[in-house]
Amino acid sequence: MLPGSFAHDVLTGLSASPKHLHSRYFYDDRGSQLFEQIMELPEYYLTRCEAEIFERYKQTVLQMCEGEKWSLVDLGAGDATKTRIWIDYFYRHRQDFSYIPADISAYALEELTASLQNTYPTLEVKPVKGEYNRALEWIGREVTGKKFVLFMGSNIGNFSESECIAFLHQIRQALSVGDRLLIGFDLKKEGKIIHAAYNDSSGVTEAFNKNLLIRINRELGGQFNPDSFDFHANYDPVSGFVRSYLVSKKAQTVSIEALGRSFHFHPWETIHAENSRKFSLKEIETLAAACGFTIEKHLLDGQEWFVDTIWRV
Ligand code: AVJ
Repeated sequence: MLPGSFAHDVLTGLSASPKHLHSRYFYDDRGSQLFEQIMELPEYYLTRCEAEIFERYKQTVLQMCEGEKWSLVDLGAGDATKTRIWIDYFYRHRQDFSYIPADISAYALEELTASLQNTYPTLEVKPVKGEYNRALEWIGREVTGKKFVLFMGSNIGNFSESECIAFLHQIRQALSVGDRLLIGFDLKKEGKIIHAAYNDSSGVTEAFNKNLLIRINRELGGQFNPDSFDFHANYDPVSGFVRSYLVSKKAQTVSIEALGRSFHFHPWETIHAENSRKFSLKEIETLAAACGFTIEKHLLDGQEWFVDTIWRV
């Protein structure tokens, strides 16, 4: 069993105490579909705030980049709905740039590249397939000239504190003096609003979390009954972490064929499934300094619920 494989990570996570699984495994085909539904939910404000920011600051950012050739690197590009706001604007204003979408899904990258080449025939698009760290190594090695890395969507909120620092150092390694990094952070705000975003009334977020059990059943021959687990997400205003759990409603033993063993759950025993961390601007500023960046500009939405912060090496 390969370290870092799905099987390996499920074995480690379910053998640990307390049990945990990694949210990066949420995104199989069904999981990606459910996340798209989440972004449409009335309670899930994050995507709309960030789209508003991209619309609001397209001219500011174009002016920042004027007179130089840039590579716009989009980490976890997906279908690039929000990035397209800038691509479209930069392209129409003849800003000299190339677009480098990085994603783990080959399918998403092919679709995106074809669609962009169709709409913007002279735009240079260079897709990179792979996990963040592989994509960053490639970018550090292969991309010459100025880089502008985008890490949007509050994906940084999935990391623990140490993972977050390690990831930012890795980005720093791939960049040179004068390069830029934009990161989307969801900001600390009234707890009720955050709570609702992760406890939507239509139950899509619950299905999104439980899909991980269904994925274990399908890919690893697991015997999970998702109905015997409760979904629980809560926001801690001190640390800023929303932590999501699957909670066993009863004593049960679940076998997973590919792992050659079963796992026992006590009544109300938890599996930690996701972090969705919220930040203050002060915490963001401390993080930038600790990782070798200076802050160039905070791009905020009208309600100040979300920030896309631009950092420079
Ligand atoms: C894609 C990681 C930013 O944490 O808000 C949405 C995933 N989880 N609802 C987030 C998610 C539950 C999302 N990120």
